[in-house]
Amino acid sequence: MIIKSLDQLNSLSKKVADKLKEKDCIFLTGDIGVGKTTFTRYLINYLQKKEGLKVTEVLSPTFNLLYEYDLKKLKIMHYDLYRLKNDKELNNLGIFQENGNAVKIIEWPSLIKNPISDKLEIHLDYAKHESERKLKFLGTGKWKNFE
Ligand SMILES: Nc1ncnc2c1ncn2[C@@H]1O[C@H](COP(=O)(O)OP(=O)(O)OP(=O)(O)O)[C@@H](O)[C@H]1O
Ligand SMILES: [Mg+2]
Repeated sequence: MIIKSLDQLNSLSKKVADKLKEKDCIFLTGDIGVGKTTFTRYLINYLQKKEGLKVTEVLSPTFNLLYEYDLKKLKIMHYDLYRLKNDKELNNLGIFQENGNAVKIIEWPSLIKNPISDKLEIHLDYAKHESERKLKFLGTGKWKNFE
């Protein structure tokens, strides 16, 4: 699918957010600066608003690797694994060892190989115009036919 603007990315993030439940996992792939963090920011801010919580900053976890957001019903863990070099570093993070019920949103997830039952992969690509993006979805479990 092609999205023409940030507004459309925002709408899409709401559609994903409304389906989000405990244990769900979202993988965001695509080149540097394509919009992975922006998507995540829209999604988290939308849920904060929807639940009557304070809308917070959602910064890129490039250096921290992880930022966490406590919503009323859900905990969201937003990872950026760009800086991880190997499986050892990945295992040290323990993404799937603790916080079993949390939603995980993961940028640069390529080191992760374990199967995940309910996972939505969103692949973003640049398109012709600066404000356009191409999006592809690949889902497992409840996300299988997400469009
Ligand atoms: N339609 C669009 N969708 C997403 N981002 C857009 C769009 N149009 C413009 N942008 C801009 O592109 C930039 C995307 O940056 P963002 O930090 O979200 O990328 P990223 O994929 O997380 O990069 P990184 O790999 O470095 O983490 C933002 O400045 C955003 O405003
Ligand atoms: Mg990012």
